[in-house]
Order: sequence, then structure tokens, then C-alpha cells
Amino acid sequence: MKTKIKLGVIFGGRSGEHEVSLMSARSVLSVLDVEKYDITQIGIDHEGKWWSGPNTLEALEKGSIGNLSRVFLLPEPGKTVLYKRENNGEVESIQPLQELDVIFPVLHGTFGEDGTLQGFFEMADIAYVGAGVLGSSVGMDKSVFKDVMRSNEIPVVDWITCTRKDVENDIQTIIEKCESQLSYPLFVKPANLGSSVGITKVKNRSDLLEGIMEAARYDRRILIERGVNAREIEVSVIGNEDCRASIPGEINPSDEFYSYNAKYHDGDSELYIPAPIPEELTKRVQELAVKTYKAIDCAGLSRVDFLLDKDTDELFINEVNTIPGFTTISMYPKLWDADGLSYSKLIDELIELAFERKMERNKSKRSFGD
Ligand SMILES: Nc1ncnc2c1ncn2[C@@H]1O[C@H](COP(=O)(O)OP(=O)(O)O)[C@@H](O)[C@H]1O
Ligand SMILES: [Mg+2]
Repeated sequence: MKTKIKLGVIFGGRSGEHEVSLMSARSVLSVLDVEKYDITQIGIDHEGKWWSGPNTLEALEKGSIGNLSRVFLLPEPGKTVLYKRENNGEVESIQPLQELDVIFPVLHGTFGEDGTLQGFFEMADIAYVGAGVLGSSVGMDKSVFKDVMRSNEIPVVDWITCTRKDVENDIQTIIEKCESQLSYPLFVKPANLGSSVGITKVKNRSDLLEGIMEAARYDRRILIERGVNAREIEVSVIGNEDCRASIPGEINPSDEFYSYNAKYHDGDSELYIPAPIPEELTKRVQELAVKTYKAIDCAGLSRVDFLLDKDTDELFINEVNTIPGFTTISMYPKLWDADGLSYSKLIDELIELAFERKMERNKSKRSFGD
């Protein structure tokens, strides 16, 4: 009998996308082949504490973690062991709970998708699904991401970045800069968030002022971007150095833009798979998606999102999501499914890629002179 792969699936997390992560994890767990994987569920609560035990996911969904144990990993290389921490009154004890070969972080946003957790995995020298520290953090930061796109001659919409300090010191100068360099409507965004949280579309000076104040509540750095009258095209990419792009899909948001409400609440946004665009445009979208993926040193997976200007047909990269929504009805797996890669095969491939990437990483010399 083949030995099973000891797989840790981590979900929840400290970000605003905690609930989205639980939904993604439910889908992932429902298709994992138990003949192939020995699965350990690890849930991170809103405060950042790690838990595991019977039906961890369900416990987190219900907010009743009473039967779970506090668990942790050590940030050092060697065998990866998940430890259980117990506290019986005065005495605290630590016991090994489960060995792990690979981790699938099904976490979206801050402290999951942004390179922080990936840094921890690197310290522990463990195989994990998805991009490394650099790809994750560049993918997360909308401003640095756009700088990297520009330097690779990948088209992005014009923007201005400012800091919360700039806003506190002299918001008037920022507004003047926006109005002289860009034209309304504008989009104001926190640099490091997702799910459209803190994003506003503004059409005049007073809304711009309010939008900047709103974005500054969520992040130290803020982007103000030219608004495009856009169709929204998305492509899934999979792979490490050798990567490939799926057929593109299109989203027609139910709101004026793809807001938090349109994404998660009203359910009226429409998905088109494949996107009804000409073949040459499909090719260009796929090429740009792969180029973007490589430019940020992405690995494993990413959904690359485009804005297609309805007035000029210009194509812009909007953003990448290195751990995109992963429910069976999310765009990332749906695009692959339509392209002939089923949800469960997709997960198998991502786990294989995690091992491949670790092997590649471990080929690098770590010291000079031997
Ligand atoms: N420059 C822009 N022009 C037109 N629409 C935009 C622009 N930037 C963002 N949007 C709209 O706002 C949504 C959310 O913005 P996005 O940058 O994708 O942030 P998030 O990471 O929160 O998804 C997009 O899906 C799109 O509907
Ligand atoms: Mg987006």
C-alpha cells in the first residue's frame, strides 16, 4: 500500500476574509481523496490562535471551539510536527499531535495570502501550496504590484500612491495631485486588502476626500486610480516556473463595480465561462497573465484579473490573487473545470507543485565556499 501524503489544511485566519476562507476550505476538504491524503484540519481563529481536533472546520463555522486543542508548528527545519498544547490548570504540556508533509493554506488576505505565513513555512522548511514570500507579498500590495508591472511593460491603469501620514499631514496636496494627473471617476483603494473592502468609486472632490479617509482607515498606504469603464476578465494560472493559463472568464457585477456586496451578498453578479471575447484577445489575456505571474515570481496558483476598457478596447492588469476564492463555484476552479481540469485533479496538481517547489528551493546553496 502506498503511504499517504500527510496534508495539513489551514483555514480561517485573522483577515476580514475569514468566512470566505472557511467556505473555500469546506470545498477543498469535501473533495480531497482520503485514500491518498491523511488530512489534518487546522483552523486559525479571528485572534490568530491555531486550533485542531475533531471536525475543526465545523467548529470554526459554528464558533464553538470548545472541543479543539491549541496547536502550533515550530519555525525550524527538520520533521514538521504539529504540536498540541494543553493547559491543565497550573501545568502546561506540549505533545506531538501529527506529522505533516505539506500544507495547503486556504487563507485569503492579510496573514494568509500576503507572505507572512509563507515566511513562517520557509523558516520551518515545509512544502506548502502556492506562492512564496515574494510572490505573495507583491501580489498582495496593489502599489508595488503595479510598479513591478510597469517595469515589465505590462499595462496597468494610471495611479497615485500616498500614505496615511501624507493624508494626515496634507490631504489637499494629494487631492490636487489626483486632479491634475488623473481624471474622474477615480477608484480609491487600501493597498493591501481584498474583497473590495475599503474601496470606493468617486466622481468629485468631496467624494474623493471621503474615499481617501475611508481607505486610510484600513491601510497605511492608499492608491488612487483612474477609473475605467471596464469589462472584467479573469484568468486562472497554475504552475511553478512552467505555468499555464486557463480559458478566460468574465464577471458582470451586479453593482456599479464589483463591490463587497456584489461579491458576497446579492448573488446577482453574472459569470461567463468562457468570456465572450475574440480569440486573439483570449491569447493576449493568457500571455499577459503568464507574464504577470512570472514577473512577481508567483508559484502554485493565481487568478489574474483584467480590466478591458469598453471604450477603447485597451487591456489592463488590475490585480492578482495568489490564493483566490476556492469554493467549487469560485472563478478560479471553475475556469479550470471548463478547461478540462476537474476540481479534485486541480488540488492534486497544486499539492504536487508544492513538493516540486520545495525541491527546487532546497537545491540552492545556503553557504558560501563548500
Ligand atoms: N481602475 C478601475 N477602474 C474600474 N473599475 C475598477 C478599478 N479598480 C477597481 N475596480 C473595480 O473594483 C473592484 C475591486 O477592485 P480590486 O482592485 O480588484 O480590489 P480587491 O482586491 O478588493 O478585489 C474590481 O473588481 C472592479 O469592479
Ligand atoms: Mg479584485
